Amino acid sequence: MLKGKKIVLGVTGGIAVYKAVDLVSRLRKKGVEVRVVMTEHAQQFVTPLTFKEISGNKVATSMWDSNQEYNVEHIALANWADAFLVAPATANILAKMANGIADDLLSTTLLAAQAPIVVCPAMNTGMYLNPITQENIAKLEAHGVTVMPPASGMLACGTSGPGRLPEPADIVNFMESFFAKREGDLLGLKVLVTAAGTREPIDPVRFVGNRSSGKMGYAVADEAAKRGAEVLLVTGPSALAIPANVKAVKVETTNEMLEACLAAYPDVDIVVKAAAVADYRPRDVADQKIKKKNDDAMVVVMDKNPDILKTLGQSKTHQVLIGFAAETQNLIENATEKVNKKNLDMIVANDVSAAGAGFNTDTNIVKFLYADGRLEALDIMPKTEVANRILDEALIIYNNRHSK
Ligand code: CTP
Repeated sequence: MLKGKKIVLGVTGGIAVYKAVDLVSRLRKKGVEVRVVMTEHAQQFVTPLTFKEISGNKVATSMWDSNQEYNVEHIALANWADAFLVAPATANILAKMANGIADDLLSTTLLAAQAPIVVCPAMNTGMYLNPITQENIAKLEAHGVTVMPPASGMLACGTSGPGRLPEPADIVNFMESFFAKREGDLLGLKVLVTAAGTREPIDPVRFVGNRSSGKMGYAVADEAAKRGAEVLLVTGPSALAIPANVKAVKVETTNEMLEACLAAYPDVDIVVKAAAVADYRPRDVADQKIKKKNDDAMVVVMDKNPDILKTLGQSKTHQVLIGFAAETQNLIENATEKVNKKNLDMIVANDVSAAGAGFNTDTNIVKFLYADGRLEALDIMPKTEVANRILDEALIIYNNRHSK
């Protein structure tokens, strides 16, 4: 599971820094490429040279080091990693992460991170149990950060209790199951994802479309493939690249999307319908570009398009069917109605008018509504994390259905 993985290890200033050296060595033995970022305080305990030798890579220590390989080090690291691991993670870095503070290379890199983050809190028991630290940890978890609980026992400060950095071998095991969960749990399942907006032509140069970028659906397809699923992405026009290991069918109109979905549907286990589908299409599509007329107004008569999701819901057999509800008002009420009308297992509802949510953003703020009426509200988080949460839920529903 770990072989070939790229991990950025953030090392912050606690007495347990010495254990992080062993951790790097163990990760490398498993075939992981490790790049270490050290805070200034961490360098008081162990020198960057030690981590450089043990990781085989330059150690990043400052935003302002002109000798670094990258021009914009934090962005390069943020994009390079498959995962970020902060071990040991002091109360200070947890507080900074929980509040979006970016005042050194590590905190800035973590704020820009494009891959999942794991933290291993390590500190004095009093600091760990302090409600503020606990609130910060809970907030980080709500934002999709994975927290490995500290071990209990004798601490360097002479007290005993939770706060010890777990043994490096245990952290390696934790990372192994972390990747396994993310990468292997959908093995053998077929996932159909739709993404981006459909376009309905008016004439050869014009169309009726919408603002969907495809980011949410592409993230679902990408994460599902990383977790081992066989993924078919049916996508409207999008500027995004097709994710690795994903089979794609490119469509333009709602009818084309319907056709591609129906062809795949009998065979798939999970459907995530993130596409923003045009509900209507111009009745007459002109063969030639429509010329400007003298009239002040122009009327385009539109016919109703098929509802793809409803069509799939009507012929649902074994599939887990997950839809999206893009709303600008009465979110819960409208989304609940869609769950029932379209025979869904779950709907991902988002208020597309909220800041940090909806079209063309990298984050999303969503609520999960289930067929049995349950509701779960998630905090703002990257679309990749929302994608993983959706897949987690899809898998739970799938397993429940198949264990009966
Ligand atoms: N959907 C679909 N086919 C359509 C319209 C929507 O498959 N013709 C799917 C979308 O992919 C999404 C869900 O249905 O998963 C809800 O889409 P949304 O646009 O929020 O709702 P509509 O059903 O179109 O209702 P309204 O436009 O009135 O909000």
